[in-house]
Amino acid sequence: MTPDQIALIRQQFGLVARRADAFAADFYDNLFHLDGTLRPMFPADLSAQRGKLVKVLAHVILSLDDLGGVIDDVRALGAKHVGYGGSAADYQTVGIALLTTLGDHLGDRFDDASRAAWARCYGTLAEVMSEDGAARAAA
Ligand code: HEM
Repeated sequence: MTPDQIALIRQQFGLVARRADAFAADFYDNLFHLDGTLRPMFPADLSAQRGKLVKVLAHVILSLDDLGGVIDDVRALGAKHVGYGGSAADYQTVGIALLTTLGDHLGDRFDDASRAAWARCYGTLAEVMSEDGAARAAA
């Protein structure tokens, strides 16, 4: 990611984080709208899950210029996800839900440059999470 992309993501995450719980709630609404079969994988009450999601995103976004500091945490999160049973296709669906929710919350600010920066950020996160998961499943 370029320094400009990192700065853009930080600035935009700062905006959506002002309404963090609403952002996370809309994210899960969008996700389950895209694929209703994912809903039963999650607890009925999503309040704890919403907080965890925003916390992980904040943790990674603060470290985008030096991912070395968080990579072990991201790998561990990926390994946990093997147990949840998400597939590679599910990671794509989660990415679409994230970009859709960012667009809903940021409006016109979510332009082509923003979309490209967030897609790259999410792609890196999903890659590290799912690669580690696949490696552990094979071992
Ligand atoms: C980069 C993408 C993702 C991020 C950042 C993320 C983040 C998280 C976090 C932070 C947790 C809480 C873990 C804990 O309790 O310690 C979690 C749990 C979970 N995630 Fe993900 N996740 C991602 C992708 C996915 C995908 C693709 C699926 C598959 C549908 C998925 C399904 C779940 C499930 C089922 C739980 C457990 C819910 C529960 O029973 O408490 N996640 N995720």
